[in-house]
Amino acid sequence: MNIHPEFHRFLNRHDKENLLRQRGLAVWMCGLSGSGKSTIANAAERVLHQQGRFTIILDGDNLRTGLNAGLGFSDQERLENIRRIAELTKILIDNGAIVFISAITPRGELRDLARGIVGEKNLFEVYVKASYEACEKRDVKGLYAKAARGEIAHFTGKDGSFEPPHSPDLTLETEVLAIEDAAIELIEAILPRISHA
Ligand code: ADX
Repeated sequence: MNIHPEFHRFLNRHDKENLLRQRGLAVWMCGLSGSGKSTIANAAERVLHQQGRFTIILDGDNLRTGLNAGLGFSDQERLENIRRIAELTKILIDNGAIVFISAITPRGELRDLARGIVGEKNLFEVYVKASYEACEKRDVKGLYAKAARGEIAHFTGKDGSFEPPHSPDLTLETEVLAIEDAAIELIEAILPRISHA
């Protein structure tokens, strides 16, 4: 290969983490569309930001308008979507950022791929849990109604599969918890992993 990545003379993760007085972490939030991933990430980010921490949100929907534009929802395209998000996440946490990823990440294979790229010790897996029926009732983007009319192919939870994670680091049940409470629970859970030594 004629590519020679050079990392040794770059400032390293410790340098960045010392500056930011925090440790980098990927908070990978999976769950159905409309389960509350982005809303909780946004609420948690605001609290951490106020505390002086440097956070970034990588939102599946938003990234699909830019970095991941052109990718659809077949198994293969979702794999490429997640691979790119994970590679970007890796760069960001190597620079000390606390990164919230809100992407459906519907299958174990995709979550394993992300974990492999980002690194087990760098990834905190959150299952944002809400039933298909609850998400359909909320239907913030009107997609569930469209899916019911058969207008969306491979819709997650309908004709696209969703496998709940086996052993997430945290499960947030958004049919039970208020958004603010879910955000607080999330922050408390990640605190030991983001606190500067
Ligand atoms: S993922 O499966 O590859 O992780 P991602 O989180 O990036 O998905 O994008 C999901 C978002 O795309 C949903 O929140 C929804 O707004 C939109 N979307 C459009 N088509 C589909 C579909 N067939 N299945 C699921 N989400 C879809």
